[in-house]
Amino acid sequence: MEQAVQKQRIFSGIQPTGNLTLGNYIGALRNFGILQDEYDCLYSIVDLHALTVRQNPAELRKACLRTMSIFLASGLDPEKNIIYFQSQVPAHAELSWVLNCYTYMGEMSRMTQFKDKSAKHADNINCGLFTYPVLMAADILLYQTNLVPIGADQKQHLEIARDIAERFNGVYGDVFVVPDGYFPKVGARVMSLQEPTRKMSKSDPEDTYIAILDKPDIIRKKLRRAVTDSENSVVFDPENKPGVANLMSILSALSGMSMEEITAQYDGQGYGKFKDAVADSVIATLEPIQKRYEEISADKAYLQQVMDSGSERASAIAHKTMLKVRKKLGIAPWKL
Ligand code: AMP
Ligand code: TRP
Repeated sequence: MEQAVQKQRIFSGIQPTGNLTLGNYIGALRNFGILQDEYDCLYSIVDLHALTVRQNPAELRKACLRTMSIFLASGLDPEKNIIYFQSQVPAHAELSWVLNCYTYMGEMSRMTQFKDKSAKHADNINCGLFTYPVLMAADILLYQTNLVPIGADQKQHLEIARDIAERFNGVYGDVFVVPDGYFPKVGARVMSLQEPTRKMSKSDPEDTYIAILDKPDIIRKKLRRAVTDSENSVVFDPENKPGVANLMSILSALSGMSMEEITAQYDGQGYGKFKDAVADSVIATLEPIQKRYEEISADKAYLQQVMDSGSERASAIAHKTMLKVRKKLGIAPWKL
């Protein structure tokens, strides 16, 4: 029987590169777990996106499995959510090609992530890096997604996905749902511990981020060394005190305390005590995840089953959209 009320659909993707960070957890993963009961969710490990940078095959395979295990350890239920590898559903690449033909060079050239990444990898500015946002649009539009939970850094890519969907719908009628972003209230942009005006990123040096799998003593050490300022005041002022503001945001996101409450409790006592409180809350959050991670990552049969069932369920939805797209475009299959 058809369900009377269709749940809204959510799609998000994470690249299987490097170590997932506290930024990924607060900005993305944690919210995924909160959404799983109310929405129909797909979470993809976007291994095709990872290919814009040269990867070592064995390392990539490991990183893919590690990412999936972290998804599961963070509380994502593979029955309620579809968890799968992007490359296992060929429709992503297929729709991406189609959408490339509805996207302009000028739009892609304006993407800040492209500009940043091409500056960083000046020796390998490949076409994949340039059209990365089109593949991301394909990921989202393929599943007729209503909401896309992402950190603030992905806002521009989501805007492009919306523009492409609207453009395509303008020509062919209502083919795609036009997606909205879903941003966390606190923690949408967790910053680097060493350069708190840049986002915490898993592709930066180790001491700038906290990995979800970092052990407690490492977490404490990294936080003690986090850059602050010489004022010794625990007050939320991102502009003038970006380091302290970042640590306050982390503590607020994990403990639920407001900025005022944090100031009331920790101001005027030196940064050491405040940093230890941040470390305590990060450790309390990550330790149980790490414990589950150890169990899950050892269970290969279980991971295989999650992987197979995820790609099968995702393919079925993607297939429907592709049939619609093919029909609109006038490409096969058609009836003679
Ligand atoms: P990425 O690590 O770039 O594959 O990002 C995966 C997801 O985590 C995306 O939704 C990002 O917006 C989110 N994310 C990545 N880094 C951060 C950060 N420092 N703060 C908040 N969210 C982040
Ligand atoms: N580009 C995203 C990032 O780097 C990852 C991503 C790929 C994604 N496809 C997506 C996020 C679709 C949301 C929806 O963070």
